[in-house]
This record gives sequence, C-alpha cells and structure tokens, in this order.
Amino acid sequence: MTITALMPVYPRCGVRPVRGEGVYLYGEDGEQYLDFAAGIAVNALGHGHPKLVEAIAKQAATLMHVSNLYGSPQGEHFAQRLVDSTFADTVFFTNSGAEAVECAIKTARRYHFANGNPQRHTLITFNNAFHGRTLGAISATNQPKMRDGFEPLLPGFAYAPFDDLEAALALIDENTAGFLVEPIQGEGGLRPASMEFLQGLRRACDEHGLLLVLDEVQCGYGRTGKFFAHELYGVTPDIMASAKGIGGGFPLGACLATEEAAKGMVAGTHGSTYGGNPLAMAAGEAVLDVMQEPGFLEHVEAMGQRLRATLEQMIPNFDHLFEEVRGHGLMQGLKMKSDSRRFVAHCRDNHGLLLVAAGENVIRILPPLTIDESHITEFATKLSDAARVYVPAADD
Ligand SMILES: Cc1ncc(COP(=O)(O)O)c(C=O)c1O
Repeated sequence: MTITALMPVYPRCGVRPVRGEGVYLYGEDGEQYLDFAAGIAVNALGHGHPKLVEAIAKQAATLMHVSNLYGSPQGEHFAQRLVDSTFADTVFFTNSGAEAVECAIKTARRYHFANGNPQRHTLITFNNAFHGRTLGAISATNQPKMRDGFEPLLPGFAYAPFDDLEAALALIDENTAGFLVEPIQGEGGLRPASMEFLQGLRRACDEHGLLLVLDEVQCGYGRTGKFFAHELYGVTPDIMASAKGIGGGFPLGACLATEEAAKGMVAGTHGSTYGGNPLAMAAGEAVLDVMQEPGFLEHVEAMGQRLRATLEQMIPNFDHLFEEVRGHGLMQGLKMKSDSRRFVAHCRDNHGLLLVAAGENVIRILPPLTIDESHITEFATKLSDAARVYVPAADD
C-alpha cells in the first residue's frame, strides 16, 4: 500500500505546527514562524487568544452538543447579535464556508420557488471565483482545477468575467436567480471588486427582482477593517455566506439573509447535525465579543494602512520581483512578476515567514487582526531579507 493514512489531497509542505501563541506558530522541533497567513484568514484573534480558549473550555465542560431537535438558547443569542450588527434578519449556522455557500445557494433557489418562479434557478458567478469544495460550491466556479473529474456537476450556474458589469448583466435571462460573488476574490488573486461593479450588481438585482448573494467567507468578519467587506461598497446583500474568522479557528460558518430572501427556508428545508451547536456558539460569541470591543475595527484599519504602506515602499527596492499591492485592511495581496508559490515557499523555509499564494501570482498577506506595529516591522524585515536573496527560476 502506498497511499498515506491522511487522504493525499493536499500538497502539504514541511512545516508541522504543534503550538501557536499570538502571531507565532511553532513546529515539532520548536522552530518559530511569524504567521501572516492565519490559517488562511481564520485565526482572526491569533493563536490561543485567552478569551476564546476560556469560552470554549467553559462551554465544553457545560454542554458541548445537543441536537437541533431542541431549542437553542445559545444559537438564538448569537444569531440575534449577528442580526443586530448586519443587514440580516435571520441566520443559519454551518460548520464551514462551503456549507454556508450551499445554504446561500439553496436559500436563493427557494426564494424564487416560494414566489412561484421555480425556473429562476441560475446564479451568475464569476471567473476565478472560489466558493469551497462541495459539489455545489465547485459548480459555482468555472476553474477546471476544482472541477475536473467531478462531473456531472450541479446545473444552474452561468459564468462571467469578474468585475465586468456589462458581461454579467448580459447573462441575465428568465432563469436567473441572482448573482453569487466575492466582494474581494481571495483564492483567485486577491482582487477587490470595483465600486461600479458591486453597486451595478445591486442595482440590477433591484431592477430585475434578483438576489445579491455575497460570499464573504474570506473577506468578511473584520478582515478589511469593516465588519463585512460590502460595507466598503455601500451595498447590502440579500444573502451572505460567512465563515473563517467568525469562529477564530473553531469550525463555524453562517448563512445570513433578509427575511424576504429567506422566505422559502421553512421547517424541513435545510439542516445540519452539528450546525450551531452550543460549543460553536460559545466560540462565535467570544470572537464577536473581542471584535465588538471599542476600537477593534479601527485598529484593523490602521494596521492595514501601515501594512499597505510598508508593502508599497518595498516595491521600488524589489521591482524585479513585485508589481503592485491590492486589498483592504489586513487582506492585502502583493502581485509578483514570477511564480508566487515558489516565493511563498522560500519565505517559509528560509525566513520563518508564513504567507499564502493565490491566483495571478499574488502573495496573500492575512495576519491575525490582533497584530501590532512590531509585527509589521518584523514582517517587513523578513520579507525584504527574503526578497534580497531570492532568484526566480528561469521558467517562473
Ligand atoms: C471565498 C471563499 N468561499 C468559500 C470558501 C470555503 O470555505 P471552507 O474551506 O471553510 O469550506 C473559502 C475557503 O477558502 C473561500 O475563501
């Protein structure tokens, strides 16, 4: 037998973390890494945040799990806080981002079904989108690397170039349910949508009775310096998928919707054994407690500006490597002129700096939202040390 016990679907690198503390990860042999990847935008409060650890430990000792057959005082309380802080009137809790996207797709289809328009089942999605790895979520992207070998996929998606309003509007027909879009594409290359694009989609939804479904799994929950990224654009969605930062590392996601958009999601239409269990709710409340402390989002915004300025200053010194900086808050991308995966590996293996590669040869910089200026200084030193000695391969 040659297959590994862990199904070999990830090209895992040599870093084998066993402990985390704040912005640092430690490997099996005690080696230290500056973690500016944060579990790909998950560890919003860094590693081992005392309030999150305490909340999980306390809830685990009190009541870890009960079925959704029973009433959920924990779920009601956390959902109400999310409702009070967002556009939404109602929340379905999931265990991951892909499940939150699945719930969002189902909610959109059920809305039109409930309105007597079951033929309006198609969501317009965008090139290079990433919505997760379930069959529904891979059907919502047209990236062959996610889809190949998994056909037949779910029908009911049409694809337009990202940030091309005209192309998106041209796809609207009698089967259209709405748009599913990341306000800032993460995996696809850290590409923020333009104002005109997102506002144009909202307008089209209002004009044609469509639903704007946002995937804020990566860009939401404080990452951009706003609670959710759509606040940067002055638009509100009808339905939104959230995950990653919402649990700070505890597996938790949420599908949020307005009362109108959720009108088809009646008893029996959806479910999840674990979704919204008391342990997950305790984790979610602890993260939200910290994020709603006065000044938290302003701190993210300030650190984001500092990080961006640091990156922009670095470009002229290494203009053979770096091209431009993209993003908002602590979701920044550095576009490279050569293979960003190789450079990310170099930073990791030779300079103890963890980053994430994305499409279009972009490096994603996604530190915990709790970083301070000293971490940005340390990051800048490591990144410039790494860039100084780096030689791209001839075929990059
Ligand atoms: C925008 C977006 N949507 C959905 C997902 C899927 O989330 P999960 O891996 O928790 O299923 C991701 C994960 O990276 C993501 O970035």
